Amino acid sequence: MSSKFKVQSSKLKAARRSPAVGGRCVVLGVTGSIAAHKAVDLASLLTKQGCDVRVVMTADAQRFVTPLPFKTLSRHPVVTDLYDEVEGWKPAHIQLADEAALLLIAPATANTIAKLALGLADDALNCIALALNPRAKILIAPAMNGKMWLHPATRENVARLKRRGAQFIGPEEGLLSCGYEGIGRLWPVDQVAARALELLG
Ligand SMILES: Cc1cc2nc3c(=O)[nH]c(=O)nc-3n(C[C@H](O)[C@H](O)[C@H](O)COP(=O)(O)O)c2cc1C
Repeated sequence: MSSKFKVQSSKLKAARRSPAVGGRCVVLGVTGSIAAHKAVDLASLLTKQGCDVRVVMTADAQRFVTPLPFKTLSRHPVVTDLYDEVEGWKPAHIQLADEAALLLIAPATANTIAKLALGLADDALNCIALALNPRAKILIAPAMNGKMWLHPATRENVARLKRRGAQFIGPEEGLLSCGYEGIGRLWPVDQVAARALELLG
């Protein structure tokens, strides 16, 4: 892994020393953003910190990055479809919704944020969010074009999710992949990992 992804945050270093994080189940939802490849480093960072990282990819996320690096770095199969075969009788999305200590969605698209706000359940990630056990925390790291982020529809969806207890990190300002300068970039993944570890206690 390149040195730019070395964990620099003091919070993350402190969390590394905390045994409380070990074995906690983090469901990492990856959605169809150009920033989806950055979630590979996020999965790796959290796994190295002792989290049990279970990656769930939307169909669009798989247009940007394959499940393979997530599977290898998280050391678990990746959920890529609501109808994925699983061992045992329980559907994978219910199993993960029951086990999660944290549902972390990074990057989160405008589309997925809207679906979460509406409570839609048309894919594995949104089913997990709806069936999530009440002890689990939700952390959302959006990434999108600045106009999408600032659109009143997205503002309302974010506000609605915050009222329900979901936490957001980012997006940050900078040069966007769509060519515009502005708000919309995924928050640096080392800091997303640090916040996730903080939430896990
Ligand atoms: C090249 C490209 C980059 C995209 N990047 C983003 C993005 O960063 N954020 C976003 O909200 N949508 C982005 N989209 C649009 C989403 O992929 C689209 O809304 C999709 O339906 C999201 O599905 P999902 O939320 O189920 O993953 C992008 C589309 C393309 C073709």
